[in-house]
Amino acid sequence: MLASASSAAVASSSFLPRPKPKPHLLKRLASALTPPSPLSPSTGADADADQDPTPLFLRPPAHPVPAPCLAAFRRRAAALVPPSAPHLHRHLRWLLADAAHDPDADPALLRAPLGDLEALWLRHVRDRRPFQYVVGNEHWRDLVVAVREGVLIPRPETEAVVEMVGRVEGFEAGWWADLGTGSGAIAVAVARMLGPEGRVFATDVSEVAIEVARLNVQRYEMQDKVQIRHGSWFEPLEDLKGKLMGVISNPPYIPTDDLPGLQPEVGWHEPKLALDGGKDGLDHLLHLCEGLSSVLKPGGFFVFETNGNKQSEFLVDFLSTKWDSSFHDVEAVLDFADIKRFVTGYRR
Ligand SMILES: C[S@@+](CC[C@H](N)C(=O)[O-])C[C@H]1O[C@@H](n2cnc3c(N)ncnc32)[C@H](O)[C@@H]1O
Repeated sequence: MLASASSAAVASSSFLPRPKPKPHLLKRLASALTPPSPLSPSTGADADADQDPTPLFLRPPAHPVPAPCLAAFRRRAAALVPPSAPHLHRHLRWLLADAAHDPDADPALLRAPLGDLEALWLRHVRDRRPFQYVVGNEHWRDLVVAVREGVLIPRPETEAVVEMVGRVEGFEAGWWADLGTGSGAIAVAVARMLGPEGRVFATDVSEVAIEVARLNVQRYEMQDKVQIRHGSWFEPLEDLKGKLMGVISNPPYIPTDDLPGLQPEVGWHEPKLALDGGKDGLDHLLHLCEGLSSVLKPGGFFVFETNGNKQSEFLVDFLSTKWDSSFHDVEAVLDFADIKRFVTGYRR
């Protein structure tokens, strides 16, 4: 049943491929750049520009550059942008805004050497490396979340799970788990709404994710509220059985066969560990459903993000039939694009 559902699921995915640029524009871009190497983004000298995991805007403005040199960089960088990609001009402005303390000063004080910015820009335009990895952050809700290669860039549709948590009666004093926390965006956002008793246990199997989540928790001074735990799904929660008010997870849910069709920014650069949900995309979601009742206390809430309509419908059906004695009010919840993106419910 799900195999036939997978193409529809891709149609509702938040990782949709973008329309391809026209061939003549690609040719013009290719001739402006030497030679494209989209599948080896983390190798070679260019990658050296990227060793500092601190988001660009948080680094000290320690690199003076004469104004004419910065203006020349601006012109060179803009010349690499194909007419089919006006958004790249916006990215160039944002890159300079993050990189320069005052871009109009002379000398301008940069937060990275100009050569590094040049290399970062080239990788963005040439290798389709996501802009968020270039500058090391993503704006998500009211947060500026640090990200880097190896951790998923949090998506706007995921913001809704925080609202859902906020509607659970008594959520402020509850203990919550954010499973597969990635950058820690959900964990930090939920923690900021909690009262003094509330806690978030944020887990991930990826060491890079754990490191980045820790950085974000520290940046928002949530160390007292968020405990980061390394391990697979429920494994790090042994001591919390039956104690959680809620479980939140945006697990990997893309069917394996759909991964090659993802847009390059996602498929070439974001971690497969964060995307690959197995044959039907449901491997992790089903595992999460099975472990839920052991960690939730009676009345506890859960919300899972899914690949969209078919996956959500399948999970609602699965939980309301096979696990009817454990859960109630299981439903699919729409995202802002009217896609059944989330599955929510309560433990009996
Ligand atoms: C789709 S990403 C979501 C990241 C973050 N919660 C967000 O919404 O931006 C899925 C996350 O699950 C993590 N993950 C994958 N397999 C896991 C496992 N077996 N146990 C725990 N986390 C896992 C990945 O490392 C990744 O950070």
